[in-house]
Amino acid sequence: MGSSKIGITDTTLRDGHQSILATRLRTEDMLPIAELMDEAGFHSLEVWGGATFDACMRFLGEDPWERLRALRKRFKKSKLQMLLRGQNLVGYKHYPDDVVEEFVKRSVGNGIDIIRIFDALNDVRNLERSMQVAKAEGAHVQATVVYTISPVHDIPRYVKKAALLKQMGADSICIKDMAGLLAPYDAYTLIKRLKEEVDLPVHVHSHCTSGLAPMTYLKAAEAGADVLDCAISPLAGGTGQPPVESIVVALKDTPYDTGLGVSVLSEIAEYFKNIKTKYSQFEVAQSVDVAVLRYQIPGGMLSNFIAQLSQQNALDKLPAVLEEVPRVRKDLGYPPLVTPSSQIVGAQAVLNVIAGERYKMVSNEVRAYVRGLYGKPPHPIEEEIKRKIIGDQEVITVRPADLLAPGLEAAKKASSPYADSMEDVLSYALFPSVALTFLKEKMARNTRVDYNLLEEAVENGGTYSPV
Ligand code: CO
Repeated sequence: MGSSKIGITDTTLRDGHQSILATRLRTEDMLPIAELMDEAGFHSLEVWGGATFDACMRFLGEDPWERLRALRKRFKKSKLQMLLRGQNLVGYKHYPDDVVEEFVKRSVGNGIDIIRIFDALNDVRNLERSMQVAKAEGAHVQATVVYTISPVHDIPRYVKKAALLKQMGADSICIKDMAGLLAPYDAYTLIKRLKEEVDLPVHVHSHCTSGLAPMTYLKAAEAGADVLDCAISPLAGGTGQPPVESIVVALKDTPYDTGLGVSVLSEIAEYFKNIKTKYSQFEVAQSVDVAVLRYQIPGGMLSNFIAQLSQQNALDKLPAVLEEVPRVRKDLGYPPLVTPSSQIVGAQAVLNVIAGERYKMVSNEVRAYVRGLYGKPPHPIEEEIKRKIIGDQEVITVRPADLLAPGLEAAKKASSPYADSMEDVLSYALFPSVALTFLKEKMARNTRVDYNLLEEAVENGGTYSPV
């Protein structure tokens, strides 16, 4: 048993509400509690990236960059962390290197300390550029191994990936278990081996979807994990992270004590319990779903299927779609199901079932995937499947982003009537149509949210609306 304590990354302001409240939490509901969260003693707080960037503009009419700056101002002591999808940044496709460089620079420049970087296919070439820039900008580079279960995935494979990421400059390794599939004893073996063979701090990110995560965290702690991802209880459990309060109590007075005080956490929990009532229409049920163990389908994906199929009046096809997902995944070389591969596999499974014939209709994304444009699949795709999907089109072998022309100048030009800053240009480069609508509306109303006024209102217990 080691003597070192274990750290907690609080994910409430990113994955917590992404998982439990469909990414709808507004900045105005984050700021009043930020100071207390800053005092709690977390190793870091994940507050940005993932789906929050898109959701800010698309659903909330908020500027994601201004959110980051407002949070940075309030978190005076704590390290702020973001989730970056490698070459996909916070979007769903590969962006050119110049966009990646500028985005990572501005993320650090606006207040991010730790960048957790992953690629859905664990293709390290897709992490290369963002890791280099994050490093050069002085951020802590947390390289990620995306965890999944398949006939071609085993523990030595993950350890090898992590060793590679260390050579590429990783400061720490994250095991990202987005679907909650990591079982306690597998976690133990994997982390033990990572600590022995790779020798970097190991962070564990899991979801309670299958009910395994709290047990997995316990074994992870025993195996020598350095930091565990948790969320404050009202935004934890279900498809989200384990609740921080339970993990703190479970590890108290052991060699893995988190050092966090339960009373501060209770106060924070009380705040979010109240805030959550405002978002009840977006709330995802916080119950255990063991379907994930059978189909490996993460919670978010399941709700997508239900939405897609109801639209087509075909909800009765849901069981067939659930059975089809593992088959499509196998055909595509067992990609882990995480953004964007979860959407790619999911949409194709729906097409296969609706068309009544497999790959009669093929999405553009699946074609691009098979051509290698998302990276190298974990396992080679069979020739027959390949032919069915892309005919005799060639498969690329280079790093996908090598084929992309620079994009920043074009984004500058196209967004110039509406963009006030390089941050605005980047929002456009990532999500052209969403950002354009957002930037235009902002300009039309000429009501950029004034965060100084907002904070003032929050401090005085008043309200502020940007009109
Ligand atoms: Co997650």
